[in-house]
Amino acid sequence: MDISDTRKCNLFNFEMLARFMGAPEHLLIGFYEELLNDHDFLASINNRIAEIREKWGFNKGIFAMPSIDSIDWFAFERVLIYVLIRYLKPNRVLETGVYYGGNTAFALQALARNQGGKLVSIDYPDSEIRLKGSSEARHSLVGDSELYEPRLRPGFMVPLSLYEHWELIEGDSLKVIPDLQDTFDLYIHDSDHSMPFLSRELAAAWEKLSNRALVLVDDIDWSNAFFAFCVKQRLFPLLMTDNGKDNLRVRTGIALRGHANNGNDLFT
Ligand SMILES: C[S@@+](CC[C@H](N)C(=O)[O-])C[C@H]1O[C@@H](n2cnc3c(N)ncnc32)[C@H](O)[C@@H]1O
Repeated sequence: MDISDTRKCNLFNFEMLARFMGAPEHLLIGFYEELLNDHDFLASINNRIAEIREKWGFNKGIFAMPSIDSIDWFAFERVLIYVLIRYLKPNRVLETGVYYGGNTAFALQALARNQGGKLVSIDYPDSEIRLKGSSEARHSLVGDSELYEPRLRPGFMVPLSLYEHWELIEGDSLKVIPDLQDTFDLYIHDSDHSMPFLSRELAAAWEKLSNRALVLVDDIDWSNAFFAFCVKQRLFPLLMTDNGKDNLRVRTGIALRGHANNGNDLFT
């Protein structure tokens, strides 16, 4: 697969999402097109990437690219987050695992377009990750790729113009979540994907979700935690593929709290 297949894969995922949620497909596709045509958003991300590269010398992954010319270069879960927030218009969104802020930027852009709502994001400061050492702080598959310039805060790629709807809390999500006062309509997990950690984070976040909240978990194929959680809570999940820059991967899972659990009300 290459980037030219991405659009087709994304459209397929939105067709499935529409059926899963009972949402009009044209509305979801409309939000995807809105994002594809948002040249100001893409420019603000490119500007931020260039600033970070020049000022801090950070040049891992996406920061090595001179310029990104299409939203389709981004992983599907970022596009999905944008479309879900535009469609569901959540009042409160919870995110764990910010790193440079790819998902964060897309969530905040959607909230800005909605003209309302708040995103609460949780991640360790870089200094704490260094202290803990890679084996404790992150999944073993991640290695040191999440170490960055210690003076940068998590979410350093987020354009400064998008900070209005954002609260960043630096700390361990397992310690932070139980103290949160808000009730969330959307929860996005992208922190530590290991079985013991994700199982605990899902359980903690579950306590903070509204009755019809949506749970979105990235990298579901890194452990069995998401699958076990869906069985335990009798959730009927939708599993989605990434847009396949290299090959197709079942990567992102979503589940709706309060959805009838055997799937009989779906795919009508
Ligand atoms: C895969 S990266 C997140 C990528 C990010 N969502 C994005 O879109 O760029 C995983 C992040 O989870 C964070 N993390 C790992 N364990 C954590 C924990 N216990 N609490 C909070 N954040 C954690 C790491 O510091 C790292 O920044």
